[in-house]
Amino acid sequence: MENIKLSIDKAFGFVSKEAVAGYQPKVEAANKLLEDGTGKGNDFLGWLHLPSSIDNAHLKDIEDTAKILQENCEVVVVIGIGGSYLGAKAVIDALSNSFDWLQTERKTPVVVYAGQNIGEDYLYELQELLKNKKFGIISISKSGTTTEPALAFRLLKTQLEEQQGKEASKKLIVCITDKARGALRTLATQEGYKTFIIEDNIGGRFSVLSPVGLLPIAVAGFDVRKLVEGAVTMERLCGIDTPFAENPAAQYAAVRNELYNKGKKIEILVNYHPKLHYISEWWKQLYGESEGKEGKGIFPASVDFTTDLHSMGQWIQDGERTIFETVISVKESNYKKIFPNDDANLDGLNFLAGKRVDEVNKMAELGTMIAHIDGGVPNLKIELPKLNEYYLGQLLYFFERACGISGYVLGVNPFDQPGVEAYKKNMFALLEKPGYEEETKAIKARI
Ligand code: PA5
Repeated sequence: MENIKLSIDKAFGFVSKEAVAGYQPKVEAANKLLEDGTGKGNDFLGWLHLPSSIDNAHLKDIEDTAKILQENCEVVVVIGIGGSYLGAKAVIDALSNSFDWLQTERKTPVVVYAGQNIGEDYLYELQELLKNKKFGIISISKSGTTTEPALAFRLLKTQLEEQQGKEASKKLIVCITDKARGALRTLATQEGYKTFIIEDNIGGRFSVLSPVGLLPIAVAGFDVRKLVEGAVTMERLCGIDTPFAENPAAQYAAVRNELYNKGKKIEILVNYHPKLHYISEWWKQLYGESEGKEGKGIFPASVDFTTDLHSMGQWIQDGERTIFETVISVKESNYKKIFPNDDANLDGLNFLAGKRVDEVNKMAELGTMIAHIDGGVPNLKIELPKLNEYYLGQLLYFFERACGISGYVLGVNPFDQPGVEAYKKNMFALLEKPGYEEETKAIKARI
């Protein structure tokens, strides 16, 4: 079986091979800190050996619960924000038909999301859509106290109970939260909902392979066993027993830290398949929240090509030279589409006749890489043999492991997110939440 493949050779015109190789001791030490659990944030390493520790009973529980929602719902609303929804959405979007919501003959419910924003129109329109529909809810919050999902859950739970009755709605609600703490746990226990636990030592952005990601992905009809299998392969390949030169997570951590030290402060994750858009959103959270602290950290950005070549392409080609790109390339498309010949050739496109659309896409990818390198943009590439559960599982774990290593090499705690609290404090003060009286007074004096 093939694996996903990282190529870093197109960075070597910008940083030297020797300099990247010089990271070996630091990177190996960082990977060992993860393995030994002796680095900063070591109480959040539950993700490290999560793939290989998932057992059959756990997967069966996830699949059985997913089946109940599949059999009883036309729509399932996944409520969560940040790490509590991005991983599920990333995988579901990547594996779904691009026009999924328009499919009429469905075997699985449509999965939609709430609690990832506080848009009143968004929630109004969602609730309108759910009127007279058989829907279910997966409510996800590790802390169980996050405002955005809590607000959405209250609205949707009320609607579900009105539409289905309180008793019947119980089997349509699943909560994923802490084993003991938080309002969501209290509520789930009192109402008697089915629950899954987010372990204390797994942070939100590293939780995609826990029930946080696995349950919604299973509800959407995808093979969570294959996803986990892919992650297990990467867990082994990225571990401390794999030599530096063959360890993709070690190589990625080394090269991006060297690029950063040479002034490449922004990393742009690039894809050539629009269904990978949310893989980038997930990746941005993973790296942004893990590394952006203490005045340091690569800024993670993303583009969808070739779409964004017609917008951001100009900046990437010609703007300030502080960027590098990491391209996610899919070797083999899932479907074949051959470009037809046209005798009249009025559009002048017969030079493409007989070629696969993917061949055109691949030439765009290659041409862009060469142009961007010529324009001063180092390029890294991660190749997936195919877009399926197995290789996505590999990709997710690869990014997680590399993120842990990279954060330690940078010298930060990759597993905390102190900066996320600042806005919450101000919002609660402005909303006059009980307990925030002093902050309310202080903030009102400033506006
Ligand atoms: O990565 C993180 O820890 C955050 O993005 C959280 O996932 C996010 O803030 C949601 O938190 P919670 O699951 O506690 O509602």
